Amino acid sequence: MIPQSFIQDLLNRVDIVGVVERYVPLKRAGANYVACCPFHGEKTPSFTVSQTKQFYHCFGCGAHGTAIGFVMEYTGAGFVDAVKDLAQSVGMQVPEVKSERPRGKTEEGDDLYAVLLKTAQYYRQQLKNAPHAIAYLQHRGLSGDIAKQFGIGYAPDGWQNLQAAFPDYNAKALVAAGLVIQGEEGKRYDRFRDRIMFPIVDQRGHIVGFGGRVIDQGEPKYLNSPETALFEKGRELYGLYQGRRAIRDAGRVIVVEGYLDVVALAQSGIGYTVATLGTATTPAHVQKLLRQAEEIVFCFDGDDAGRRAAWRALENSLEQLVDGKQLSFLFLPQGEDPDTYVRKLGKDAFEKLLGDAQPLSQFMLRELSSRVDLNTYEGRARLLQDAKPLVTQIKAHFLSRMIRQNLAQIAGITVQDLDREYGVRESKPAHAAPPRTASAPVRTPARKAVELLMLRPDLYRLVDRNDLLAARGAPKIKPEEIALLDALLEVFAESTTTKIGEYFRDSDLEKLVREIEVTLLNRPEASFQEDELKEQFLHDWENLKLAIGEGPRVMRRKILQEKQNLSPEEQSEYKALLQPQRTGLVK
Ligand code: CTP
Ligand code: MN
Repeated sequence: MIPQSFIQDLLNRVDIVGVVERYVPLKRAGANYVACCPFHGEKTPSFTVSQTKQFYHCFGCGAHGTAIGFVMEYTGAGFVDAVKDLAQSVGMQVPEVKSERPRGKTEEGDDLYAVLLKTAQYYRQQLKNAPHAIAYLQHRGLSGDIAKQFGIGYAPDGWQNLQAAFPDYNAKALVAAGLVIQGEEGKRYDRFRDRIMFPIVDQRGHIVGFGGRVIDQGEPKYLNSPETALFEKGRELYGLYQGRRAIRDAGRVIVVEGYLDVVALAQSGIGYTVATLGTATTPAHVQKLLRQAEEIVFCFDGDDAGRRAAWRALENSLEQLVDGKQLSFLFLPQGEDPDTYVRKLGKDAFEKLLGDAQPLSQFMLRELSSRVDLNTYEGRARLLQDAKPLVTQIKAHFLSRMIRQNLAQIAGITVQDLDREYGVRESKPAHAAPPRTASAPVRTPARKAVELLMLRPDLYRLVDRNDLLAARGAPKIKPEEIALLDALLEVFAESTTTKIGEYFRDSDLEKLVREIEVTLLNRPEASFQEDELKEQFLHDWENLKLAIGEGPRVMRRKILQEKQNLSPEEQSEYKALLQPQRTGLVK
């Protein structure tokens, strides 16, 4: 476990606005910052970042959390990795954590990231001494700048070159990182020999593997790192890290097939391109990309292999579709790939081509229709049959509906019939804003005190925690709110800079904390004067004490109520208890 104190120190050092801006450009809006939510599709910004409170909240989809939560949700990193990432960005050292999953670490504790980084540096160095490799890159039209930008290197010919970079060539980490192959009879040798090396960088900027291209001719043309503890081909995308800024700016991302396509497009000014790594496009890829861009264009070769790859991409995208985002498919003319095309015709021609990409719905319906004879009932029946497993995967409400309408029209049946056959029940749009609570929660004195305390932790000094002791069982008291209030007073007495969102992570009170944080985003108290706040807080506290004080009164009243034959004293006591208690403070 990472100590809570470290988490708090970390959250005090990082600024959530800066952290979010690494991935999502923010605009100022009053006291907060806003953007279109990276976690669901939307056209008007409901994603809000509070700098004073150091958390984010999306009023559309409910995404919510601290800087750590954001990195986790955005990059898919685990808690520990997110903490490490943030710590690194502010130059803090995470205290050594035990009993975490061994991602990135071998038994010996060697850091695979460090091994891969060192290897990439070695390959880059080697490129300088390899005229034939440089000549090949030049022949492919690559500038020195772009090669540098993508960290392109060269793995020299020979069997154990990595010995030059790693004194202990027998270290397990070299095999674990996929750089060295353990042959039979204990012989080890470098996986990559005499190849141009493309480092594969994950979303956080760590090298997780390599792709190696043979120089000129040879088999296999590309050799990739095997999957390792760090590298999962179905999740990583080549060029995503280098292209993140351009993707944000363009609002779209092109998915191509090859390393060199990405590099060539980037060199010609189209930086918003990524490539899958010799595998099909997976749902995880699509999900990752839809977090970064409004639009994905899949760009494939015009041949049969290209069309098959496109269809796989379509199948793996369906579940990820979101209304408001657009996926489309572009097929290049026979014999061209993005690299050759952009080299011959330039950036503008390529971008013009992008405009002609077929929307996913169109590609799907055309492709399915082309496989049958629409002039016959049999053909149309087959179309409906073929489309069913695809269409029923689409969760994007409006898109699904329009596709079903179109399909019904093509087949000549009503959409109601089609829906019945498909077992589709009209549901509420997915990903739409959840219904806001119709009425604001009743703000009890305890809740008011909690809210103010969350706004101004140092108010804790003004009150006595012991006042809460008798709260249990008191009427008009929500135990959860008292528990939270009590916890806050305790926590703030230790440190008023504690970020409570992280403090209460995974506790019973997390939900309540989150709910209150959200209501605080746009509350006028945030701009109250110091004195006003104090006064308000004390006022709430008095009301709370009063509510707590009613506890014994109510108990006593109940006892007397049940009792037969009250004495005269008891009778007058009972009468008094029936009167509501009054003080000037209660409003
Ligand atoms: N690929 C692979 N293994 C191979 C061939 C291809 O992993 N043996 C992957 C690589 O990621 C490659 C992509 O498929 O970048 C596209 O392959 P291909 O179209 O054959 O190569 P190009 O990208 O056009 O490469 P080049 O332009 O260098 O010939
Ligand atoms: Mn090519």
